[in-house]
Amino acid sequence: MDAVVVLVLGLSCLFLLSLWRQGSGRGRLPPGPTPLPIVGNILQIDVKDISKSLTNLSKVYGPVFTVHLGMKPTVVVHGYKAVKEALEDFGDEFSGRSIFPVMERSNKSCGIVFSNGKKWKEMRRFSLTTLRNFGMGKRSIEERVQEEACCLVEELRRTNGSPCDPTFILGCAPCNVICSIVFQHRFDYKDQIFLNLMEKFNENFRILNSSWMQIYSAFPRIMKHLPGSHNNVFKNFDDIRSYILEKIKEHQETLDINNPRDFIDCFLIKMEQEKYNQMSEFVIESLVASVNDLFVAGTETTSTTLRYGLLLLLKHPEITAKVQEEIESVIGRHRSPCMQDRSRMPYTDATVHEIQRYIDLIPNNVPHAATCDIRFRDYHIPKGTNLITSLTSLLHDSKEFPNPEKFDPGHFLDESGNFKKSDFFLPFSTGKRACVGEGLARMELFLFLTTILQNFKLKSLFDPKDINTDPIVSAFGHVPPLYQLSFIPL
Ligand code: HEM
Ligand SMILES: *[C@@H]1O[C@H](CO)[C@@H](O)[C@H](O)[C@H]1NC(C)=O
Ligand SMILES: *[C@@H]1O[C@H](CO)[C@@H](O)[C@H](O)[C@H]1NC(C)=O
Ligand SMILES: *[C@@H]1O[C@H](CO)[C@@H](O)[C@H](O)[C@H]1NC(C)=O
Repeated sequence: MDAVVVLVLGLSCLFLLSLWRQGSGRGRLPPGPTPLPIVGNILQIDVKDISKSLTNLSKVYGPVFTVHLGMKPTVVVHGYKAVKEALEDFGDEFSGRSIFPVMERSNKSCGIVFSNGKKWKEMRRFSLTTLRNFGMGKRSIEERVQEEACCLVEELRRTNGSPCDPTFILGCAPCNVICSIVFQHRFDYKDQIFLNLMEKFNENFRILNSSWMQIYSAFPRIMKHLPGSHNNVFKNFDDIRSYILEKIKEHQETLDINNPRDFIDCFLIKMEQEKYNQMSEFVIESLVASVNDLFVAGTETTSTTLRYGLLLLLKHPEITAKVQEEIESVIGRHRSPCMQDRSRMPYTDATVHEIQRYIDLIPNNVPHAATCDIRFRDYHIPKGTNLITSLTSLLHDSKEFPNPEKFDPGHFLDESGNFKKSDFFLPFSTGKRACVGEGLARMELFLFLTTILQNFKLKSLFDPKDINTDPIVSAFGHVPPLYQLSFIPL
């Protein structure tokens, strides 16, 4: 395959060079390192650690600067003031997403995460309303998460206290929560349909993280005709799409307009209400794409946070012991944790916040794009320019969080041990594009972690001081190193 890649790269150079000529010299973009033709600033950026490289560049060029990733200029915003200004004060202007070729070919621009304009506004508003507690008929979202937390504990009991890699089980729980919300039912962790669905999402994650996909994104027209693992992504998308379509059909056959059971029912009702509107965004293809988006955005994020969280708790047994004390005194052993408990559990709340702050899951946020020509801090940013907002620069700000590289729930506690909020805590971003699943994700993190710690003692295979908690940087974000642990029933 190497020869093909070289050929492809070569052929594309001329094409890209012409693009680069067109792209340079318009407007007055923020300052930045001088780009080379074709590769831009890629040699000045360590692709293995983009967020650190951007922090380094911000020391030279200030809080708003331009880097060229390949041909395209990308504006980078760094630090609390500038990030808040871009995402909140210029919320509408920067609320776009640029379209990646992979997304285009898989109808992803129909959903929530990668859509734009009227379609995005309506899909987003609908999802936010529906995901709000009690949005879907009789069963609240909290009940669905609690049910899953119980099943998760049962599954962990089956490991009989022997050492295991928690990746698979911690991947099932958040995926099942989305299943429960969109399809009404959770699945057994051994259910073949469930395992197939998870495997397809996971495989796409692995491929999207590989160099194949990066080449595809750069040269979609050519790659489309070449063999390679990027084609599996489309095969997987098709399979997922057929499965979702099959489920939608089942829902249509059993729909009771007065009794929506889940996300799909709510969407079908909306479709019914808008059936005479020719311009309606509520069509089947948007439903498929939105359901797909909920899985993609809501599964890996939450499960990686849980897995990283348990690693940090293993590394810091003294912190885990304090959380367990709080669980014992506020909840006890004989009932399931619920969201109401959180306000009486400041130490646990602080620990969950600290897990999210420390791991800094999505260091550079999901890229935004300018929806129009923008005047931002005396710079001219043309419509369509990509915008990277550094969330690391807030979560690891050393004034707001002294010793930011240290895991310490004290970052979210005041002197008397009360929970202390921070405006710098933006792991879900902020503004018009902020995470649609924030409420759900925080519920899952709190309920899953407290339910696990209520039932098990976490046991490491090594001395805690030998546990490595440094993140592995992937295209997706920060993931924890592989590890094993035992769940010893309490
Ligand atoms: C720990 C878990 C999670 C983290 C850290 C997280 C973080 C994020 C971030 C940083 C963004 C991009 C915001 C921006 O562009 O400014 C985002 C977008 C999004 N997230 Fe989450 N997320 C999590 C869980 C979830 C869950 C459980 C769901 C499912 C309900 C979800 C659904 C979405 C959607 C639909 C978007 C796209 C919003 C848009 O483009 O308008 N996320 N998330
Ligand atoms: C950032 O700068 C530091 C100190 O100058 C340097 O050691 C480090 O390698 C740089 N990191 C990246 C990813 O560029
Ligand atoms: C995209 O949507 C169209 C209908 O709008 C459908 O025919 C096509 O199969 C979809 N493609 C994929 C990859 O889902
Ligand atoms: C993504 O790719 C990087 C580098 O190739 C690798 O180290 C990492 O483990 C991969 N991450 C995932 C989630 O597959």
